[in-house]
Amino acid sequence: MSKKPIEKKQPSTTGHEWDGIKELNNPLPRWWLWTFYACVVWGVAYSIAMPAWPLINGATPGVLGKSTRADVAAEIARYNEANGPIEAKLASVELTDIAQDPELSDYARNAGESVFETWCAQCHGAGAQGNAGLGYPNLIDDDWLWGGSIEDIHLTITHGIRNTEYEDARLSEMPAFGRDELLEKDQIAQVVQFVQQISGQDHDADLALAGATVFEENCASCHADDGTGIRELGAPNLTDAIWLYGGDTQTLTETVNNARYGVMPGWKERLTEAQIRAVASYIHSSGGGE
Ligand code: HEC
Ligand code: HEC
Repeated sequence: MSKKPIEKKQPSTTGHEWDGIKELNNPLPRWWLWTFYACVVWGVAYSIAMPAWPLINGATPGVLGKSTRADVAAEIARYNEANGPIEAKLASVELTDIAQDPELSDYARNAGESVFETWCAQCHGAGAQGNAGLGYPNLIDDDWLWGGSIEDIHLTITHGIRNTEYEDARLSEMPAFGRDELLEKDQIAQVVQFVQQISGQDHDADLALAGATVFEENCASCHADDGTGIRELGAPNLTDAIWLYGGDTQTLTETVNNARYGVMPGWKERLTEAQIRAVASYIHSSGGGE
């Protein structure tokens, strides 16, 4: 018995054929088509309801009146209102009382950390550990150039250091002993060896001995007779192993030749009093606050 071959239904073609490859004309799958229509409807509805089409000065607002910008403004207003009383308290109490009040000091430290990350970290490092060699001091050790009491830190931050913006900025200037020909080359070599001696490093004993006299006559007025520094002048302790710029021969020679004049901006117009106190509390409590 012969079977009739099953006839396969041939899909229609577009009539295009290249090298035996035909372009078929299958209908689109239903699920695909309905999804496509749903997307078109959704797109039209969305652009009517929500901000959508860009215009010259903004975008079509959408009938639901949604605005992420207004949401943010409302969020900020809510935050400010919630923190208003504690910010006002922070800005007005005695500086030394902040640490005595657990709620206030908690708030200050948290707020201060975010102020620090935004405004200070680019110079002083993300964890306030400073940038040794570039003159940006570590703020969480107990070595202070200008003082580590909350009042000292507050004053340093408010007015800054050696900037031209504020009259009350911390100010002092180490002379450029080489550049301005205050010392001979060999005197500089001597005093550099002396500084290496008092900071406990390898040194040339003969040069250092001569350097002691150079130091006494030229440096002690700012760095103190024993080299431990004078805070009123922001003159660093040279006997510890903590360096702003560096304690090797080459760096010391450069410092004595040309001096440094490290500058920090003042913050009294960039930050609110509460923010300055917050970041001062953060630094004071993070390390060796005095
Ligand atoms: C543009 C860089 C820069 C920025 C930004 C900066 N500082 Fe400083 N800061 C310095 C320099 C440089 C010194 C050291 C100056 C010197 O040699 O006396 C310093 C010193 C300090 C000191 C004194 C440390 C001591 O040992 O007495 C404190 C405190 C301080 N900064 C806090 C801050 C805080 C808080 C901020 C952010 C609000 C900040 N700094 C932002 C550059 C900066
Ligand atoms: C008028 C005061 C003054 C005198 C005098 C002075 N210094 Fe300084 N010295 C400073 C100050 C302030 C700094 C802080 C750095 C800055 O200016 O940015 C400093 C910084 C230094 C540093 C950098 C320390 C570090 O941590 O990197 C060295 C080293 C130094 N002085 C050595 C000397 C020597 C040596 C002499 C004498 C030949 C001398 N200074 C005389 C004020 C003085």
